[in-house]
Amino acid sequence: MNATTIRIYELLAETPHWQSGEQLGHALGISRGAVAKHVGQLRERGCVIEAVSRRGYRFVSAPDAPEAFAVVPLLTTRVLGRHLIYLDETDWTNREAARLAQAGAAEGTVVVAAAQTAGRGRFQRHWHSQPGLNLTFSLLLRPSLEPARIPQLPILAAAALLPALDRVFGDTPSKLAIKWPNDILADGRKLCGILCECETEADLVHHIILGIGINVNSRRFPVDLRETATSLALETGRSTALAPLLADILNSFEPLYLQWCGISDLAPFLPLLMSRSHLRGRDLAISGAAGTLHGRFSRILPDGRLEIEAPEGLTTVHSGDVTLKGTP
Ligand code: BTN
Repeated sequence: MNATTIRIYELLAETPHWQSGEQLGHALGISRGAVAKHVGQLRERGCVIEAVSRRGYRFVSAPDAPEAFAVVPLLTTRVLGRHLIYLDETDWTNREAARLAQAGAAEGTVVVAAAQTAGRGRFQRHWHSQPGLNLTFSLLLRPSLEPARIPQLPILAAAALLPALDRVFGDTPSKLAIKWPNDILADGRKLCGILCECETEADLVHHIILGIGINVNSRRFPVDLRETATSLALETGRSTALAPLLADILNSFEPLYLQWCGISDLAPFLPLLMSRSHLRGRDLAISGAAGTLHGRFSRILPDGRLEIEAPEGLTTVHSGDVTLKGTP
């Protein structure tokens, strides 16, 4: 969807009055015929726009989908989300974003899908998301930094997502917590997962794809997830519009990302990461390539590693699958 279609949407959506094709065309330096074409595109995407001869166009409604025309006007970012591709269906958005990255897509490109036919989580797990109800999107980043810093990125993303998701709770205190390294939980149930994938070469990062799945408006989960997953709708008792939420997430993430790119670690974000950590004071089992480590949560280090008090002393872990002792 191009910038002019998005601008037509904005002009139509911001006023309840009729606007003539001539007026709209004049505002954008295009012909009436071109306006009609852009309006046609918005209608194809589910917008209801009335048209009456000699009066012009009047906006009626737009679908609740995180389409470019609904997200981009809400962005305060310089880079993130400025190029946003919305797909009705794809296999999984990280793959689509990686394909675009290889074709030279710009930093900040976002691929968002209403439905994924092969959604994935970490450790090749399946990512379940009911079509059209949740946010499943991937963000293409091209920071110039050493590949060793990449594992900090999902942790940084969690630190940016948390305040944006807190805002959905309004005045009600949110029960959200970050489960190092890449989950956001509500009362211990998973609400959001982050999958970070990258293409690097020696000391060079070609691109990073940050895939983010948030259970927003789902109210039912498959039997195997019923005890462990939740959604914003289940937690707040109401639905949340997807486009403003995605815009808020991108707006929250960009300043943190730019700050992080200019420094060497996660130090400025540690107070939030520690105070809202789901792991605080808990006994953990962390499984990874080298086996399973057991110990009590100690802290998150500025370089993103998790420090635990193991029976043999303080130990650090770069990444892994964390389970809390006494929970499945
Ligand atoms: C996890 O919890 O293991 C990570 C889940 C990541 C899910 C998101 S949804 C958008 C992107 N596409 C995918 O298939 N996975 C990520």
